[in-house]
Amino acid sequence: MKHQANQAIGIFDSGIGGLTVANAISKHLPDEELIYFGDTANMPYGDKSKDLIKSYALQITDFLLNVKKCKAIVIACNTASAAAYEYLRDVNKGITPIINVIDPIVEAVVNDNDIHKIGLIATKTTVEAGVYQEKLARRRPDLAQASMATPLLAKMIEEGFYNDNISHAVIEKYLNEPILEGIDALILGCTHYVLIKDEINTFYDHKVKLFDSTDIVALKLKGILEKENLLNDKRENENIFYISDITENFKESAKMFYGENINLELYKIWDKPEN
Ligand code: DGL
Repeated sequence: MKHQANQAIGIFDSGIGGLTVANAISKHLPDEELIYFGDTANMPYGDKSKDLIKSYALQITDFLLNVKKCKAIVIACNTASAAAYEYLRDVNKGITPIINVIDPIVEAVVNDNDIHKIGLIATKTTVEAGVYQEKLARRRPDLAQASMATPLLAKMIEEGFYNDNISHAVIEKYLNEPILEGIDALILGCTHYVLIKDEINTFYDHKVKLFDSTDIVALKLKGILEKENLLNDKRENENIFYISDITENFKESAKMFYGENINLELYKIWDKPEN
């Protein structure tokens, strides 16, 4: 069935990091209704196998499309984008636009001719999947690349350690690794890292360009909805934020990732029988 412009946009992440992307989308597309799903019951995705992440992503997408009747899906997680995007795109080809967070960043990097060496920091699964690296190499074979897994960062941020001495020390330790020497730009390849962007900028004295998955992804989505004639002109319902497991910590962190108070609702997707 053809989608209608007044249907919601489905956004999902392993947890609450993707709220940084959701917030950017709500700013660029205020007339759109958003339905967010954070798989907090299964996070982190960053050290899980691609196959397992693919199966989670498939079921969440099925929920957003078939139960919540979304018109487009944004994979607001680098790890899930690396592990499951092509699969989800092929399953939904010609029916539903599926947007990942990797391609818009790759596009922005390859079009910037001032960049000669690009760095990538991300979860282990994102770095090991090699999706960023392959796409960058295909489009810009001349570009030197350095990628490094930074598994402590997402956990550290989630625990509220950012803009403090602990985060400064961890960031400094990672960014001083010799592999990153001489980079002109750095991809913040995890939706959590938006919260430490200022610290990273300070570390580099603003001399290294930073790419993250907020505005770039929201604008890409806007372009796709425009092209598909799916842009909404008036939001009828409030945005909804589901998570698959709820704790006080998630509630507190949600505000810090989204930048304003939001109401998280528990949706036990994994308790439902598979169909
Ligand atoms: N938000 C995820 C990403 O962008 C990382 C968090 C996790 O490991 O689940 O890759």
